[in-house]
Amino acid sequence: MPVLDPLSFECISHGEEQTQRLGLRLGVLLTAHAVIALTGPLGAGKTQFARGVGQGWGALQGLRSPTFTMVQEHHRARDGQSLYHVDLYRVEHEADLRTLGLEEILDDEESVCIIEWADHAGTLIPQDAINLHLEIHNQSKRLLTFSTHSPTTWQVLLAFRKKAFGV
Ligand SMILES: Nc1ncnc2c1ncn2[C@@H]1O[C@H](COP(=O)(O)OP(=O)(O)O)[C@@H](O)[C@H]1O
Ligand SMILES: [Mg+2]
Repeated sequence: MPVLDPLSFECISHGEEQTQRLGLRLGVLLTAHAVIALTGPLGAGKTQFARGVGQGWGALQGLRSPTFTMVQEHHRARDGQSLYHVDLYRVEHEADLRTLGLEEILDDEESVCIIEWADHAGTLIPQDAINLHLEIHNQSKRLLTFSTHSPTTWQVLLAFRKKAFGV
């Protein structure tokens, strides 16, 4: 697992279960106000990863592709906090982001937010977000690149890497 620069690392997922499991391991580490920004082409595994995040975070219901609703709010029993699962695939204009209320969701300090097609969010993605880019290598293999611009968030990613890969 090469370290590309101080605040990013990459790994290979060999199947959908592995991608989901990685999401779960990250999901348990999330604290309020965390944002995960997912990018990568259709079928790369963004929703698969989000599913795992929801499980790890403790969502009462399974995460599914929110493509048609664009935003789905999930809850957990422990503290009643919300997880927003957002899909910006259909977003083409800044006005769409306003309609969705993405800014308000990201401002909510009690919630966590996971965004598919985060590259459609313009400048709204906070600089301390966890970024995950997924690339398709072949039918079952995906290259996952985790990164952040924030030294604080980097500590979360290091804890995640340690738990998931032991390094
Ligand atoms: N290693 C892998 N990780 C994630 N998904 C995989 C992997 N290998 C195959 N797949 C398949 O790729 C598809 C990913 O779909 P999905 O998570 O909905 O992608 P996206 O949300 O990026 O469009 C699923 O059909 C899944 O079974
Ligand atoms: Mg998806």
